[in-house]
Amino acid sequence: LQAKHFLSPEKLDPMRTKLGAIRGQIASERELQNPPAKLQPLQVGYIDLPQKLLDQFRRKGDQSELGKVNRIATRIRENCDRFIVLGIGGSYLAGRVLFESLCHAHHNEMPAKMRMGKPRMYFEGNNLDNDAVQELIELFDHSCVDPDMPEERWGFTVISKSGSTLETAAAFRAFRAEAARFYGPKSEWLRKMIVPVTGMKGKLRDLCKADGFADEDILTIPDDIGDRYSVFTPAGLLPAAIVGLDVRALLLGAAAMTKRFLEEPFERNPVLQFAAVNYLMAEEHGKTTRVMNIWNKKLESVGSWYDQLLSESLGKAGRGPTPISSVCSRDVHSRGQQYQEGTRDKLFNNLIVRQCKQPSIMVGHVERNEDELNAISRRSYPDLLEASYRSASEVYLESARPSADIILPTVTEHTMGQLLQMLMLATAVEGRLAGVNPYGQPGVDVYKNNLMRILKATPNLPKGEVRDAVKGV
Ligand code: PA5
Repeated sequence: LQAKHFLSPEKLDPMRTKLGAIRGQIASERELQNPPAKLQPLQVGYIDLPQKLLDQFRRKGDQSELGKVNRIATRIRENCDRFIVLGIGGSYLAGRVLFESLCHAHHNEMPAKMRMGKPRMYFEGNNLDNDAVQELIELFDHSCVDPDMPEERWGFTVISKSGSTLETAAAFRAFRAEAARFYGPKSEWLRKMIVPVTGMKGKLRDLCKADGFADEDILTIPDDIGDRYSVFTPAGLLPAAIVGLDVRALLLGAAAMTKRFLEEPFERNPVLQFAAVNYLMAEEHGKTTRVMNIWNKKLESVGSWYDQLLSESLGKAGRGPTPISSVCSRDVHSRGQQYQEGTRDKLFNNLIVRQCKQPSIMVGHVERNEDELNAISRRSYPDLLEASYRSASEVYLESARPSADIILPTVTEHTMGQLLQMLMLATAVEGRLAGVNPYGQPGVDVYKNNLMRILKATPNLPKGEVRDAVKGV
């Protein structure tokens, strides 16, 4: 982490003692069996989960939770060409952030051979948008021509920790009905191609049990892990394993970050540094809008994932920074104007990737030079992006707009594991610094209850004309 944040050592130094105490508190919270009421809910399972999963895999192999994820993912990969992830919030963003940042940018458009047999992946159940669901079903109907053609088979996972979120539950009904129509309502394929991921108990688990799913076919999100902290539970690991990502490397990266957080001093501790800069800027300098400037297109969904993490963790009791994420250089051409000359309420966290994965594209020299690019003909795309970053940063610096840089050497499973774990831990540290419980999401829970109350208080009839209604099973 590099910071150009206008925080003097006098400001940061006293923070070190405070941060040391908070780290100690978080470390001891992991041991609490019966947390006091003021700490509830306390969902700190994510801190040690990556190492726990790795240790259990070493001891129990296929019989471990990771072994189970791998086994189910292999079954899906071998039988399925298109795979839908149904879920919302953390139950959606966990899979999406890993899929988008680590798979080929055009994974879904590539022919099966280029994908090396890995299924195409889609995300639904993350909204209440009729047309979006209907159009995915339409694709399902067109590609499911023959159940004996393995490359045309569809599967899906339904991910919901509570098991009662309307957006996901309604989509599950629709896709379950579609699958039953395609495979046959009593077909074994329904249990082969549908993977439930849910909490220890709840409506979704009950429903799946009634559908004949055995416990070993249902993946579990542990009770002590909140949804937005669930990226290293099966909510994130299953989609990642299905598209062939190295989930062990992800967990190793995350576990390394936990160790670093718990053991390293402030100077070598990106969790504490990120939390300190962001906390001080919001609480003491009025930088309440927190912009994540993402200098890598494929990391765009890190922004959406962090939006949820920050909003639900710290946006409580009339407080908390507002997250915004931008992809650069794209958004320099839109929000950039506001960022440079608009309200002075922002801190910019630049997320930078040092090394591209693909060979560099050069600007190149051409005979005619109407576009006048020959002057930079020996520059590559990474050079152009770096210059764009420097150009934007120069303005921030000159106009005293604070920023900090998070630098990834390259985008791999290991670095993504580190990054996501770092952001989760830093958010927890910030919560404790601000005296806000970073776990639980009372506002979202009220919304969920209101939604069902409103629906149940009015007649159980559709509003307006209904065309081609999908019937449940
Ligand atoms: O953070 C939360 O708990 C919520 O925003 C959830 O991510 C979202 O509501 C989905 O919940 P569930 O996994 O229980 O369906």
